[in-house]
Amino acid sequence: MAAARRPLVAGNWKMNGLKGSIAELDKVMAAAADYTGKVELMVCPPSTLVAQFAARAQGSPIAIGAQDCHAEAAGAFTGDLSAEMLKDAGAVAVIVGHSERRTYHKETDAEVRAKALAAWRAGLMAIVCVGETKDERVAGKTLEVVGRQVEGSLPDGTTPANLVIAYEPVWAIGTGLTPTTADVAEAHGFIRAEVAKRFGQAVADGVRIQYGGSVKPSNAKELMSVSDVDGALVGGASLKADDFLGIASAYL
Ligand code: PGA
Repeated sequence: MAAARRPLVAGNWKMNGLKGSIAELDKVMAAAADYTGKVELMVCPPSTLVAQFAARAQGSPIAIGAQDCHAEAAGAFTGDLSAEMLKDAGAVAVIVGHSERRTYHKETDAEVRAKALAAWRAGLMAIVCVGETKDERVAGKTLEVVGRQVEGSLPDGTTPANLVIAYEPVWAIGTGLTPTTADVAEAHGFIRAEVAKRFGQAVADGVRIQYGGSVKPSNAKELMSVSDVDGALVGGASLKADDFLGIASAYL
């Protein structure tokens, strides 16, 4: 069934980027035609740039996403942004439950699930992140932790169209470290099996599971060729168009 899944390479810019950074988006857009039909490309800039980027990318194959949303549609939540606002700005997707949100903002699986539901309410696709810490991996608890996160963070009603899972081992994010391909295959196979148990085989066969954590052009081909890996969520290496495209080139 793997052929039915179109890989998604998404760039998570995190708290990086000013108006002038649109030059990198322009470079990605200029190359986009080469990737069409083989891999979907998405750029998730900081919220301040979503509207500008979405306007620029309109009509191009490059999708624009956001990095987080509040669970409520509106209200007295100073500094927060709702999924509806991100949709209004032109986003088509939003990352929820990134490990930096889980760590620095103490987000729980229940909150992540509420955010994914908010994304759907607004008409956005949710990219739900899961992944174990170093201590959890060393303790042999990777699958237990990831299984709990998948169970707690994915809402009922998950389909291949409304949700993407990003498996991101916390210890691999921004560190230059990556799991072995055998470990990636084990985690992704496990996640797909968990999805099958809860949502049925058809959903499990269709839902995309990205790998994230220190993906770069030099390791993308190896990581992207692992079974059950359907693209990448890329942090640091997504800030430069050449590196981002170099990663997506794993699918050419
Ligand atoms: P990284 O980040 O590619 O810089 O390791 C990945 C992520 O946090 O999504």
